[in-house]
Amino acid sequence: MENKKYVVGNMKTLMDRKSVSKYLKIVNDKIFSNQVILFPTSIYVPYFLNQYYRVGLQNIYFESMGSYTGEIVPIQAKSMGISCVLIGHSDRRLNFKETDSIINKKVLECLMHGLSVILCVGETLEEKELLKTTRVLKKQITYALRDVDDFRQIIIAYEPVWAIGTRKVPKNEEIKSAIQYIKDIVATEFGYADIKVLYGGSIDSKNIHTICKIDELDGVLVGNASTDAKEFLDIIEVVLNK
Ligand code: PGA
Repeated sequence: MENKKYVVGNMKTLMDRKSVSKYLKIVNDKIFSNQVILFPTSIYVPYFLNQYYRVGLQNIYFESMGSYTGEIVPIQAKSMGISCVLIGHSDRRLNFKETDSIINKKVLECLMHGLSVILCVGETLEEKELLKTTRVLKKQITYALRDVDDFRQIIIAYEPVWAIGTRKVPKNEEIKSAIQYIKDIVATEFGYADIKVLYGGSIDSKNIHTICKIDELDGVLVGNASTDAKEFLDIIEVVLNK
């Protein structure tokens, strides 16, 4: 199995045009790796597209071209040079009421059009406290990946909801056992033993050193810290050069 690590930046809706151009002036001379995938707010995507790192969409609609005002469909994304889509982020599950069934449709439509998928999964604080983490992960993963036939185009990001934007990071032991559990689920439910699993939630240039000690980790998904060029470059350096 290829031992590639990934650094993914989810820039959410945190930047305006001015901060995007400042950011690009710094990172475009420094990131030369297709193991880095940036997910800008979609209107800024054309500024980011280049041949040096990969660019993805934070969301997608699950139909072919048609009358879906305000949405972007996979065929359009593909035609712009997008290679990857973030699906199932907790912002979308919680704020936009995205169900496992919608997530599954999005996954299948992306794969059909040759787009890779980063599938986000993770438990809420309440679910964690009720000791339901594994049950939640199993449900989210088995539902989202139903009918998938090419798992090489899927990366899973383990993002405990309580760790996103909170500066609370699980202990390495907790991350490690969740990652192992996710790999086991994909192997037993779908017969695919090489799934890549990232960790996401409150990563910064300081805690990345500790998180990188987890051998099972295939990379990280960085939210807020990915919008600070220097922070993000430091994180890339640590992850890719480990
Ligand atoms: P955070 O966000 O790094 O700001 O916690 C992670 C995410 O939203 O994917």
